[in-house]
Amino acid sequence: MLPLSVTLAGLLLLPEALWAGGYLDSAHGSSSAGVERSATTSFATGNCLHCHETHASVAGSEPAPTAGTPSAYTLFATNFNTSAVPGSYLVADNVCFYCHSASATAQVVVNGDYATTFGGDASGTLPQYIMEAFNQRSYHNLGDIHNFVDGESILFPWYSEYSNPCNACHNPHLAKRNYQDFSAPLSSAISKPTDHFNLWGQTELMSSYSSYEAPYANATSTAREPDGSTTADGSKTADYVGFCTNCHNTSNTIYSTTLARNLRSIDWSSSGDKHGGLVREGLLDSLNPYTAAAATKSNFLLSCLDCHEPHGSSNIMLLRKRVNGGDLSATITTTNVMGALCRQCHKDDAAASAGTNTVGKWQYIHHYSSDRPYSPTQCALCHGSGGSNPPPIPCGNCHFHGSDDSWAGARQTNRKTF
Ligand code: HEC
Ligand code: HEC
Ligand code: HEC
Ligand code: HEC
Ligand code: HEC
Ligand code: HEC
Ligand code: HEC
Ligand code: HEC
Repeated sequence: MLPLSVTLAGLLLLPEALWAGGYLDSAHGSSSAGVERSATTSFATGNCLHCHETHASVAGSEPAPTAGTPSAYTLFATNFNTSAVPGSYLVADNVCFYCHSASATAQVVVNGDYATTFGGDASGTLPQYIMEAFNQRSYHNLGDIHNFVDGESILFPWYSEYSNPCNACHNPHLAKRNYQDFSAPLSSAISKPTDHFNLWGQTELMSSYSSYEAPYANATSTAREPDGSTTADGSKTADYVGFCTNCHNTSNTIYSTTLARNLRSIDWSSSGDKHGGLVREGLLDSLNPYTAAAATKSNFLLSCLDCHEPHGSSNIMLLRKRVNGGDLSATITTTNVMGALCRQCHKDDAAASAGTNTVGKWQYIHHYSSDRPYSPTQCALCHGSGGSNPPPIPCGNCHFHGSDDSWAGARQTNRKTF
């Protein structure tokens, strides 16, 4: 077999027409907004050579700006440094960061996070660049993704040990300018890991689940995600459930260095989570738009990105800073205290005007609502100590993906609790 670099050099010389369909319509291939590396401005904007350096690889040595041996795939820099320290990524750790970072040296590209671009936040309050998004409290650990995807060669045959984990979710030759055109699903920026050579989310939409309800982009108006229009059925939102469960499903075992354990499997089917396909119990102490829509929808199935960021977050577990049209009231640093997330869609005591009547307290839902799980007696059994004002109980004891209320302190009500 020919060395990769040589094969690739040949491919780069193929007539443009061969690539026309995908690449020229892509964000990188755009002749106006595409790649334009500072060291190679003699090439037209969008030219492959802003990322690949054919001659270097053929000759075996690389021209400026990066010295040393040729990089895999004849890229102008190392595709991905498998020893990179997650949460403290540097530009040199990933070829993408040479452009997708505030300190980029090749070309500076600005991208807000999901909550900003699709969740109606004011730009400027959240990370403005991709590398910075990964350098927060929580992040998709690129090294773990690399190990997982490279290890599953039957599922992801196109991925090699020299591949870049960003490309597990994106195809740099196809990705389009979603953020510039976010009401048009055809401008998708993502590719499903098992279907790398196509875009995902152009026709695969959340509206295929009749039970999706687009959250507010701004809760003080009727604006919905992703584009601030009144469209609520998910027909402008990619099917992120199908996308994320390509990896996070009930068959894959995924290790997380951050959590130092295998991740819980995610079951979004009708026998899995309530936020997924499983039908809720009777009354729902929810907020709008869910309360109003509950009149016609007996089940809501949420998108993973209604709660999570895809890259990283200042909250744990990639949890969004802004959900359902409002900013979270506090940073979530542990699963013991997750109420700041829940209260974007469910009534805390203040919103219910009941129980302790206090923002961020949850006595009403658990003890007084008509579908309360627990009648308030024998306080110490669950709260550790009793009295009329007992200490709160860590939310994460009972609420997590796949949970039921089998926590030792709880009384069985045989309910799924997430
Ligand atoms: C030489 C600079 C450069 C490099 C290297 C680069 N990009 Fe980009 N990227 C760009 C530019 C320029 C755009 C278009 C920006 C715009 O639309 O305003 C872009 C856009 C994108 C988009 C579309 C997002 C959107 O909505 O605009 C994705 C996805 C993307 N890049 C992913 C990657 C990944 C993954 C890598 C690494 C494998 C990478 N990029 C490497 C310059 C680069
Ligand atoms: C934004 C940077 C960027 C641009 C522009 C770009 N590529 Fe790539 N290309 C990559 C990266 C990164 C890889 C490595 C893929 C991986 O990580 O598995 C790659 C891989 C390849 C491969 C190996 C097979 C594959 O698809 O993974 C070929 C062939 C290729 N590129 C050709 C081209 C051609 C031809 C063009 C222009 C029409 C082009 N590339 C433009 C970044 C780029
Ligand atoms: C686990 C999957 C996953 C990984 C890994 C991943 N991304 Fe993304 N990325 C997404 C999703 C999902 C979106 C947002 C939604 C969309 O545009 O459809 C996104 C959006 C983007 C965008 C567009 C942001 C905007 O303005 O809308 C860029 C650029 C991007 N990613 C680059 C990268 C780079 C660079 C890496 C690696 C450092 C990376 N991504 C790793 C899933 C991923
Ligand atoms: C290519 C496979 C892949 C895809 C697709 C993927 N993930 Fe992950 N995810 C991983 C791996 C590997 C880990 C373990 C590493 C880690 O903890 O960051 C992980 C970890 C996580 C974690 C735990 C993060 C933490 O703090 O430890 C969350 C939350 C998560 N993913 C959400 C998502 C969401 C939401 C999507 C869809 C946008 C998604 N993932 C898509 C591979 C994937
Ligand atoms: C983006 C909005 C949103 C967020 C954030 C949210 N939920 Fe929900 N939740 C819902 C919706 C909508 C339903 C109804 C699902 C259905 O119809 O099956 C629901 C249902 C539930 C149920 C089942 C209720 C029943 O009557 O069966 C529980 C328990 C629950 N959520 C707990 C939580 C917890 C705990 C948090 C915070 C960690 C949280 N939710 C965050 C929207 C949300
Ligand atoms: C079967 C378990 C259970 C029993 C028994 C129980 N609680 Fe609770 N209680 C909960 C759960 C779960 C929550 C919600 C988590 C939280 O806020 O601590 C809660 C919340 C509360 C809160 C809000 C706490 C806060 O600071 O946010 C108060 C006050 C409360 N309970 C009072 C009582 C009193 C008084 C009793 C006894 C008369 C009692 N509970 C018995 C499970 C129980
Ligand atoms: C001892 C277990 C336990 C703990 C601890 C606990 N909960 Fe719950 N929670 C439940 C059960 C059981 C339900 C009822 C699920 C159902 O309706 O099917 C519930 C329901 C909820 C709901 C959904 C109510 C609705 O129907 O709309 C929210 C939101 C919620 N809890 C938030 C929290 C928060 C925030 C914390 C931490 C402060 C917490 N819970 C701690 C057991 C617990
Ligand atoms: C209602 C909000 C919400 C939605 C919707 C949601 N998540 Fe989560 N997710 C959470 C919260 C809260 C946590 C932290 C508690 C836990 O570990 O489950 C979490 C944790 C995770 C984790 C880490 C699990 C672990 O092992 O601790 C993964 C992986 C994950 N989510 C993936 C997904 C995927 C994939 C989807 C869509 C199919 C999704 N989430 C939808 C709120 C949500």
